[in-house]
Amino acid sequence: MTSHAKILVTSAAGKTGMHTALQLRQQGFPVRAFVRRHDHRAKRLESAGAEVFVGNQYALRDMRAAMQGVQRAYQCAPTAPNGLHFNAVFTVAAHEAQLEHVVTMSQWLASADHPSLFTREVYLGDSLISMRPDMSVTTVNPGWFADNYLMVLDMAAHLGVFTMPLGDGDIKKNAPPSNEDIAGVVTAALADPDRHAGKTYRPTGPALLSPNEVADSLGQALGRRVRYMDISERMMVKALKALPPANYSVAAVTQLAIYAEEYRRGAFAVNAPTDDVRLLCGREAESFASIVRRTVAARPDLSPGIGRSVKAMAGFLKILGTSAFNLEQAQSQRDYVRVEAPSFCQDDETWLASHTPAARDLKTVHAA
Ligand SMILES: NC(=O)c1ccc[n+]([C@@H]2O[C@H](COP(=O)([O-])OP(=O)(O)OC[C@H]3O[C@@H](n4cnc5c(N)ncnc54)[C@H](OP(=O)(O)O)[C@@H]3O)[C@@H](O)[C@H]2O)c1
Repeated sequence: MTSHAKILVTSAAGKTGMHTALQLRQQGFPVRAFVRRHDHRAKRLESAGAEVFVGNQYALRDMRAAMQGVQRAYQCAPTAPNGLHFNAVFTVAAHEAQLEHVVTMSQWLASADHPSLFTREVYLGDSLISMRPDMSVTTVNPGWFADNYLMVLDMAAHLGVFTMPLGDGDIKKNAPPSNEDIAGVVTAALADPDRHAGKTYRPTGPALLSPNEVADSLGQALGRRVRYMDISERMMVKALKALPPANYSVAAVTQLAIYAEEYRRGAFAVNAPTDDVRLLCGREAESFASIVRRTVAARPDLSPGIGRSVKAMAGFLKILGTSAFNLEQAQSQRDYVRVEAPSFCQDDETWLASHTPAARDLKTVHAA
């Protein structure tokens, strides 16, 4: 492998891409950071010494240009529809550019027959990128990010409720990883391909938490009582439509509803927590309580205030007044690919086998 490899980070202004680019720079690697606009995040990357490439990640012409002179890359499809398109563009360009090593952002749930189209697409993307024997791949499969809970911090801060459709509040169902720890695992795998080629990692936080414990951590960081409220799927659809960032397409909402169902079924707790953050980063994974504390510390707008409480209440009323749409109907749209016999993760023997600790070292988990 090249000793001072140049590394392309896609989705570099995003949650894991930003920290991957920064951590690689800290380790002295030359980094090209793919962003779609030159904003404050691009400036932060430049200040850290990254070369910023502005373009469209879904366009093959731009991806080819971004990979010129690069030996390794972080493949990170944006959280949005068209993941398979992104992954196909990335794979074609990576194979043409004859990259030596790729670290790919997959999903905890990735499986061939999953009810979620996005998840089946991720599975296909993982398979495509692994098809050139001369290029090694490390797969990173995080579960439900800690960051997802932070989306409802405003309501927790100003109304004292943590609302998500996560089922029974007392059952421990997720060990949420921080963006920084996921990026730490990606960075380690990019920095040392000889050690991590062909492996699959599932970074998690240090402990499984129940929804009530998530609410307690939010409350402790915010200095107020926060109560977990298990909401219906219908209410989740309304909230995703009503609240910022209100950029969820109908297709994305249908998939998030399936992920929430996997959460309630306990898929994210299977063989979690893992020790992958300690193994790759040489430090303990950050606790959820610590993640929330530092997020709250960086957001003065979360401190109490009548105006802020009124605004939060107005947001809540807006959710109630927003009409839901029928998830089943949305999925039956003409151009929405479906499978005959979908299988949730824990009903899928191949998926279960791929989530045992021993599966980390399989050449590709999908061949299991
Ligand atoms: N969230 C979870 O719980 C979870 C769990 C497991 C796996 N994942 C996987 O994580 C991946 C997302 O990673 P992430 O959260 O680090 O990414 P992210 O925060 O969604 O970042 C995506 C970035 O891509 C940029 N982008 C979007 N369209 C673009 C375009 N056409 N050209 C150039 N840039 C573009 C976005 O720009 P702007 O910021 O300017 O919009 C954004 O900065 C997904 O593949 C998802 O399946 C997520």
